[in-house]
Amino acid sequence: MQDISAGIQAIKRQLGDRLCIMGHHYQNDAVVQHCDITGDSLELARRVPQVNADHIVFCGVYFMGESAALLAKPGQAVYLPSMDADCLMSRMTPAPLARKVLEQLYALGRKVIPLAYVNTDLALKAVVGEYGGAVCTSANAGIMLQWAMKQGDGVLFLPDMHLGNNTATALGIAPHERHVLRIGSRGLVEPEAQALDRKLLLWPGCCAIHARFDPDDVREMRAAHPGCRVIAHPECREDVIAVCDGAGSTSYLIKDAARVAAEALGSTLIVGTENNLVHRLAARHAGQCRIIPLGHAICGNMAKVTEKKLWTILEAITAQKATPLAIEEELCPPARLSLTRMLEVCGQ
Ligand code: 13P
Ligand code: SF4
Repeated sequence: MQDISAGIQAIKRQLGDRLCIMGHHYQNDAVVQHCDITGDSLELARRVPQVNADHIVFCGVYFMGESAALLAKPGQAVYLPSMDADCLMSRMTPAPLARKVLEQLYALGRKVIPLAYVNTDLALKAVVGEYGGAVCTSANAGIMLQWAMKQGDGVLFLPDMHLGNNTATALGIAPHERHVLRIGSRGLVEPEAQALDRKLLLWPGCCAIHARFDPDDVREMRAAHPGCRVIAHPECREDVIAVCDGAGSTSYLIKDAARVAAEALGSTLIVGTENNLVHRLAARHAGQCRIIPLGHAICGNMAKVTEKKLWTILEAITAQKATPLAIEEELCPPARLSLTRMLEVCGQ
C-alpha cells in the first residue's frame, strides 16, 4: 500500500489548499491517515461551510456526501470515492412515503413536526424542511427533540426508532407518550388502531449494524471483564442502552475513551459501535486502558471506501475527469433549510 499512500500524498501536495479530504470516524485507518478533517456527522456538517477548497473529497457514505454538497459554497465540488457506499438506514424512509404519513397525520388534525436523523436522503430532508422540521445527529438529538416539541403538538422522529427512543428516555419522555408507527407501502396501516395522538411518533427504522447488539452481549462482557465500563452508540436498542454505563454519539464515545484512559489506568472499557472506531481507540490508548468492541459491528458500506478508491478519485480530479456528486436543484432549498435549522439551533 506504500505506492498508493505515496501517490495520495503527492496529489495532496500538488493540489494544496484546493483540496480538502474529509472523513467519518468509521473509515478505516488507511483512509483516515489522509483526511484533513475527521469527525462524526455533526462535526463534519459544521465544518463544510468553513472549507474553502475547490475540491472536497468526502470519505463516508452517500448521505454524508449529499449533506456536504448541500452545505458547500457555489463552485465547490464534492466527490465520493465510492458512489455505492450507501447507509442502508438512510433508505428506510422514502420521501413520498414520509410525505404520505405526514399528510395522514395532518388530516387527523395533528401538527406533527418531522425531526430527521441526518442519516436520510436529500428528498426526505426536503420534505422535512417543507413541514417546518429539522435534521439532527446523534450528538444533538436531545436538543433538537426539545426544539421540535416546541414547534408543533408532536414530533415524528425518523428513521431510527432506537435513537428516537433513547433520546426520549434521556429527556424523560415516558414510554406511554411514544408510539412506533406501523407503516405499509401506502402509508399508515390501520390508522384507527394506532396511538397517533402520542407526543412522539417514531418511524420503524433502525441501523442493522448497531441494532444487532443484545443486552446479553453486555452481560457476557461484564462477566468476562469484572469491573469494566460499557458504553454504546444510541443507535443501539433501548434494552441495550439500559444496561450500559453510558451512551452517546461517536464524539461522546471518543471523549469517554480518552477520559477513561486518563483517569482509570489499567481498566477495561467495552464500546458498542462500529469496530473501525473501536480498534482505533484501542490502539490510541494502548498501555493506558484496554478497549474492546462489544461485538462484531462493521458497516460494510463505510468499508467500501478504500485507500485505493481514494487515490483513484484524486487522480481523476487532477486529470479533470472526476464526476462531482450531483444533487437535484429543486430539492436544495427545503433540504438546506432542514440542515441550517439544526446548525442554527445548535449554535453552528
Ligand atoms: P454519528 O452521528 O455519531 O457520526 O453516527 C453516524 C452513523 O452513521 C452512526 O452509525
Ligand atoms: Fe448507516 Fe448504520 Fe452504517 Fe451508520 S453504521 S452508516 S447508520 S448503516
